[in-house]
Amino acid sequence: MLPSNPFEIRLDRNDPRPLYRQIKDALAAAIESGELPPSTRLPATRALAQKLGVDRVTVVTAYNELAAEGLIQSHVGRGSFVLDPASLTGRHETPPAPPSLRAPDEWTAHNFNREMMRLARRPDIITFGPGMPATDLLPADDYRFALNAVLRRDGPEVLQYGPIEGHPPLQAAIAEELAGFGVHIRPEQALITSGAEQALSLAMRTVLRTGDAVLVEQPTYLHVLDLLAGSGIEAHPAPCDEQGARADALPELIERHRPRLLYLTPTYQNPTGVCMPLARRREILQLAAAHHLLILEDDVYRHLWLDAPPPPPLRALDPADNVIYVNGYSKCLLPGARIGYLLAPQRLHAELEAAHQTLDLTATELSQRALALLFEQSRFRQHLERVRAAYRERRRAMLEALTDYMPPGASWTRPAGGLFLWLRLPPGGPSATTLYVHALDLGVAFAPGHLFYLPERVKADDAAHSLRLNFTLYPPPIIRDGIRRLARAWERAGGELPSS
Ligand SMILES: Cc1ncc(COP(=O)(O)O)c(C=O)c1O
Repeated sequence: MLPSNPFEIRLDRNDPRPLYRQIKDALAAAIESGELPPSTRLPATRALAQKLGVDRVTVVTAYNELAAEGLIQSHVGRGSFVLDPASLTGRHETPPAPPSLRAPDEWTAHNFNREMMRLARRPDIITFGPGMPATDLLPADDYRFALNAVLRRDGPEVLQYGPIEGHPPLQAAIAEELAGFGVHIRPEQALITSGAEQALSLAMRTVLRTGDAVLVEQPTYLHVLDLLAGSGIEAHPAPCDEQGARADALPELIERHRPRLLYLTPTYQNPTGVCMPLARRREILQLAAAHHLLILEDDVYRHLWLDAPPPPPLRALDPADNVIYVNGYSKCLLPGARIGYLLAPQRLHAELEAAHQTLDLTATELSQRALALLFEQSRFRQHLERVRAAYRERRRAMLEALTDYMPPGASWTRPAGGLFLWLRLPPGGPSATTLYVHALDLGVAFAPGHLFYLPERVKADDAAHSLRLNFTLYPPPIIRDGIRRLARAWERAGGELPSS
């Protein structure tokens, strides 16, 4: 018996698509639009074939395709039903328990990150803490398309181990993109890794030996601090100003510590959002070349420019081939795809490639091929345009709310891209960790600034009175609500509020 729903399939004998494909496409469109809601029973194949005047095999083929795409589920003897995603087991549905870490002073980068990820899944807390892109803007449909298309095109081969250095078409797409940034490479020079994080770890463990010194921006990306902690490598702070790492402070630091490496995130830095201007980039490169100092450039926020494209990467400006360059597609596209890459200076390429093989063999082939397809189809570019438009709005909402609600003496960066801004609380008032406890009671969270400082610097005033806010995670009204709650938390913590 046909179902009672009014849905009709019209076949067109002049359509170049085969009949099974027309049936499949019509049903898929109806499922996607909700016209055929979850749990709807599809007509029996024999009945539908009769109704449409086609062979039964044609309908069976269409149903098989729908099942392969996860749109329907067939049960022997009962028929085929539109899949209800909620009926699938294995998804972790229960929200995590209320926040347990109540002493943020004692946090390490490691347990902070777990806390932030837990909070991000709680609907009752507005959290500006995590270092991730907005979930509501992740391109799930594009990715689903790419995964299905790649699986259909390449079959089981895509589930095999792939080439160690990466999927050649993805390497080619990266080389093309890099040329647009002014970095000219042969595709095989891009060593594909499981996220930028792995590229950073690979670079550090290959280039550095116990007892070596490195310079890191202060504040800096907290996982780099985590990576260096307990490694036997000495990390020293490189001071920053509103243009990023200070070139004028480097000669003395180089003289004193004889560092082997300088870790920099010059473009929309994590955590401050600052972007280093061209002149400063050139100054730092000159100093590094003069002192045989390797630079590890982490460029993962480059795609997320909001006002105008940023200056070229250090790697593009460096004739001395002294920069290890790291980038990836977590912040600008899909953190879950876990795809990053590394460009080594020529003299280090073979060593880094060998180290990569030891560490991981290869990054996931399926993700690499799916990403290559998203590039090829211009979907990545379109996604970036959508994300930039939304992030501009969200940044504006946060800057306006901060202006309206923050106490006198507070200041903040106005990033031209990336995910974060850096808020400095009025000196002499409650610290960021005191504020955090009250903020959590009022349902708002952030990343306390001390986490981004080397351990010996966490008690310093700038570390204790600053915090990182991710401005991209919520639509404007929620951002405004979150900042309003933060201001209330400040008052509860004993801070002074603007008189209005
Ligand atoms: C500066 C910086 N580098 C690297 C990463 C890691 O990126 P991925 O997710 O690609 O490993 C992050 C993520 O927070 C980051 O902020």
